[in-house]
Amino acid sequence: MDIAIALLVFTAITSYLLWFTFISRSLKGPRVWPLLGSLPGLVENADRMHEWIADNLRACGGTYQTCICAIPFLARKQGLVTVTCDPKNLEHILKTRFDNYPKGPTWQAVFHDLLGKGIFNSDGDTWLFQRKTAALEFTTRTLRQAMARWVTRAIKLRFCPILRAAQLQAKPVDLQDLLLRLTLDNICGLAFGKDPETLAPGLPDNGFAMAFDRATEATLQRFILPEVIWKFRKWLGLGLEVSLSRSLVHVDEYLSTVIDTRKVELLNQQKDGNPHDDLLSRFMKKKESYSDKFLQHVALNFILAGRDTSSVALSWFFWLVIQNPRVEEKILHEICTVLMETRGEDVSSWVDEPLGFEEVDRLIYLKAALSETLRLYPSVPEDSKHVVADDVLPDGTFVPAGSSVTYSIYSVGRMKCTWGDDCLEFRPERWLTPDEQRFIMHDSYKFVSFNAGPRICLGKDLAYLQMKSIAAAVLMRHRLTLVPGHQVEQKMSLTLFMKYGLKVNVHHRDLTVALGSFKRVKAVESDSVNEGGGVRMVGIHVRRIKVPQLWQKWEMMRAQTGAFDKISFHGMAVTGSLEMLPPKISCFSSALSSGSSLGELWA
Ligand code: HEM
Repeated sequence: MDIAIALLVFTAITSYLLWFTFISRSLKGPRVWPLLGSLPGLVENADRMHEWIADNLRACGGTYQTCICAIPFLARKQGLVTVTCDPKNLEHILKTRFDNYPKGPTWQAVFHDLLGKGIFNSDGDTWLFQRKTAALEFTTRTLRQAMARWVTRAIKLRFCPILRAAQLQAKPVDLQDLLLRLTLDNICGLAFGKDPETLAPGLPDNGFAMAFDRATEATLQRFILPEVIWKFRKWLGLGLEVSLSRSLVHVDEYLSTVIDTRKVELLNQQKDGNPHDDLLSRFMKKKESYSDKFLQHVALNFILAGRDTSSVALSWFFWLVIQNPRVEEKILHEICTVLMETRGEDVSSWVDEPLGFEEVDRLIYLKAALSETLRLYPSVPEDSKHVVADDVLPDGTFVPAGSSVTYSIYSVGRMKCTWGDDCLEFRPERWLTPDEQRFIMHDSYKFVSFNAGPRICLGKDLAYLQMKSIAAAVLMRHRLTLVPGHQVEQKMSLTLFMKYGLKVNVHHRDLTVALGSFKRVKAVESDSVNEGGGVRMVGIHVRRIKVPQLWQKWEMMRAQTGAFDKISFHGMAVTGSLEMLPPKISCFSSALSSGSSLGELWA
């Protein structure tokens, strides 16, 4: 009997190992282990998960398949994950075969208690109906105006005073925390017309915001556990599931009050004409009468979609700007250019009021810097879809029905084959035409930070408006420095938070200095020509110059005016040897060495 059992066990183990050898050979990507699949690698690299995925993708040419559960029958279905960052595959998944790649049952089950069947958490007709209804609202100018109003008010009345107090008291602030509060306030204003003022002096606790945070945290924890386990915990009322149901009661009570009050206000509005332009009111004014639960879910879905995404993007933006003074200077230069035209030379009028709609619209270098931030640090770093029917991706990878596809938004922006050899550099200029006068929108499957295809982010334009307003408001008033010793690290979550926040010291920005440098550059630029073939030339006029100073001049001019290919010198005598110039400069003018009055320097 014992021998029979031993034989049985031996046969089972041998068959499993044979099966495992076969299956693991068919998978590209990180090492897979018996039973545990690629889980050990994931755990080992938990602190650098996005980098680990990007490394794996680089090693496998942009796509790999791995198994998160190496058990027969599951390994080729629910246990199989295809990971990709190939733009052609992304286009196929997000657009061409959109219907074959919904969010799927796992995602929906996890979020159901918090988001119901709202736009962010539904597929098929339920999603399409909400998308069409909401898309109509997002194209209206009034929604943009509403966003501008909520942002401007919060910047002026609360954000700027808090930063100013930090500057005067020389106290560091956690900028990420302030931004998270600010964008939550904005999105609540936009979604249901009520600013909870979580960003206020003293950073007070807010019942609704805390309940929503707890509910989101508990919901995200469900992703870590197998579905049966979290469902069982929910049934027994264990762990974070208790916190989730209590928080949902709080959220429900808060929103019910908002909806009831709004119903009365909308009735009275017909009498007193006081307009409500938030999303909730817009849905309530429609002919169809929606249930209160549906309306709650509308508000909650938009809050979840639009709250943290802009604030984490801004946190990475400020961090990158602190490390790239050249970019900071160009952003300031652009702001000065616009404000000189719209408000004149009196610098005090620049900071009296936050930038207006049209002023913000003209900041294209700032938009480029924000897009560059989102390319390197996308707020949603990884996203996932369910495979409905067997399919073959454009790169030839077979994806079986029931498995899932993860598209790594973080990795797309960091592939040399997609963004060139300098893909890891923060270079906003890649978003501008060579004369830096116009913004270039890159292919949407190469830049998927706002998703792409029919489910592209609905709030993209609003997010740029909000981020540009906030970024400009801070940089015009303050220079930021990182608190010495503060570690900036990625937190492993569905959103790319900074694990320890962004601790910065807030200094005064002397705009008159920025204005002075702006005027100097303008004087020079009046001499600047855009030559044929996109060559940008800057002309300078000096009487005498030594060759080493030419190089300093070159660097200074580049910092002030941005990229150019050539400096031309007029009316000057150059002394010294041309060998003293760095090899980066190829000199084009024989007259230069002989101390002529005309010369040109080329990069
Ligand atoms: C920098 C800021 C933002 C980024 C990077 C961003 C990114 C994204 C991404 C990646 C998705 C797809 C998520 C998925 O389907 O799994 C998405 C969807 C969505 N976003 Fe944004 N978002 C931002 C700001 C906003 C704002 C401010 C709003 C609202 C005012 C908003 C509203 C939405 C909505 C409603 C969807 C769902 C669209 C659908 O499924 O049809 N987003 N966003």
